[in-house]
Amino acid sequence: MKRSEINRYIAEAIDYIDKSGFRLPPFAFWSPDEWKTKGEEADEIRENGLGWDVTDYGLNEFMSTGLLLFTIRNGNFARKDYYPKGYAEKIMVVREDQITPFHYHWNKREDIINRGGGELLIELYLADDKNGLSDTTFSVAIDGVRRQVAPGDKVALTPGESICLEPYIYHSFWGKTGAGTVLVGEVSDVNDDNNDNCFLDKLGRYPKIIEDELPLHYLCTEYPKGGKLIRT
Ligand SMILES: [Fe+2]
Repeated sequence: MKRSEINRYIAEAIDYIDKSGFRLPPFAFWSPDEWKTKGEEADEIRENGLGWDVTDYGLNEFMSTGLLLFTIRNGNFARKDYYPKGYAEKIMVVREDQITPFHYHWNKREDIINRGGGELLIELYLADDKNGLSDTTFSVAIDGVRRQVAPGDKVALTPGESICLEPYIYHSFWGKTGAGTVLVGEVSDVNDDNNDNCFLDKLGRYPKIIEDELPLHYLCTEYPKGGKLIRT
């Protein structure tokens, strides 16, 4: 992805999230210049992957396969002594027909919440023991109500509704055609993007970035430390 696209999508997300009535924390708006003034007091943001995350899963077709996320809070398994928090929260902007590809988590249990806007469609399978899609029927809880799910069933979440995705449940989601962009929340166990995502197809989790202009905001993998840009 070009940096100019990432800048534009973040600016559009800030506008959309604000118009939705959801308020982001202050670090969502820090510029690279402001980051230069932040010392170790802001390490929780750097070390736990908080902040902006714009991905095209390495396919360079963000509008059809991509996701824009902002991680509001998170723990850290690698530094549990220092960050004992056992939970995470994200806010995401999912556009019509913009697919987050099939993946599951070995450890993370996540509630995906339609916080407003359009309709979120989620396609579900149970994973088999070879990381494929199983043909087994299973059940999920949608706002406290259990529902049987056949392989490949799609669950539609309207604003206010949420689904609890247990580990080993493959999920892919997108905004329903014609219903508008969806503001999606996630409340989950600690998020560990380096070790806890199993994608059905081998995909990159982060974009390859072409630096055609300066960043307006760093992505969560880019925070500078000690004066130099680090990529985790
Ligand atoms: Fe997920």
